[in-house]
Amino acid sequence: MTKRVKKAVFPVAGLGTRFLPATKASPKEMLPIVDKPLIQYAVEEAVAAGIEIMVFVIGRNKHSITDHFDTAYELESELEARGKDELLKVVRGIVPPHVSCIYIRQAMPLGLGHAVLCAQPVVGDEPFAVVLADDMINDGGAGCLAQMVEAFANAGCSILGTEQVAAEETDRYGIVDAEGEGPLLEVKSIVEKPRPEEAPSNLAVVGRYILTSGIFTHLSQTGRGAGGEIQLTDAIARLMEKDRVLAYRFTGTRYDCGSKLGYLMATVDYALQHPELAEGFREWLKERFFGANTRG
Ligand code: G1P
Repeated sequence: MTKRVKKAVFPVAGLGTRFLPATKASPKEMLPIVDKPLIQYAVEEAVAAGIEIMVFVIGRNKHSITDHFDTAYELESELEARGKDELLKVVRGIVPPHVSCIYIRQAMPLGLGHAVLCAQPVVGDEPFAVVLADDMINDGGAGCLAQMVEAFANAGCSILGTEQVAAEETDRYGIVDAEGEGPLLEVKSIVEKPRPEEAPSNLAVVGRYILTSGIFTHLSQTGRGAGGEIQLTDAIARLMEKDRVLAYRFTGTRYDCGSKLGYLMATVDYALQHPELAEGFREWLKERFFGANTRG
């Protein structure tokens, strides 16, 4: 019987150089989209997929992530004393009671593959999810990971979240060569960040993976690849020599919040859906962009 996906690994040890100086002392995963940090959206997506154990692979300067998912005793007593019940609920509700958080330190920034390998002692012999918090996905429902966990329950093999990207962007992603019809495709090959002229397709892996524990053996044998880093993509290529790997074309919109443009797009779209802000923000946008015209 296919094992249930109960654990999610969040590699959060990257340097976040694209957002310097904002990320000098604070991790990029703590950048907010409206009023929640990126990492909280990622954890909420995992919770919505039925995942109960969150494994954060952290590096230096990541104390704010551990603090964010911990009890904030002083803040809570202060909010309680001031009768700010709604805010107290928000702060206390960040991690539901049935969810546990585990932190593992990645001592050296050797790449995504190495970060995932650091989680092996906690993940053990179980299928698990990998979530890259800077890829935000909004499907208007339970989320991309819930879609993938369901697909895994049927397929029982590793599944990669994918979407089509522009041909000139292949060198920013793991790119798969996949065959089939519908949302689940058979992966024939995978390559990390190929130049457009060398890419087998423009179907890109986004920051959502369901992996079987067999990946760890390959990760431990994978040397440095693209960019001098130990790449998860290279270990998946080795896994595929024996095991079936599927590409899943998820439903929903992805925002590349690792780039400033994607981050701004996510901010605008989430603000337009935010119950407190949507109306005022929409009015302001109209005024800002069409004000001169509408006034006539
Ligand atoms: C990582 C992976 C890449 C994947 C991407 C998705 O790259 O190595 O295969 O397509 O995440 O966001 P990074 O963005 O960390 O350079």
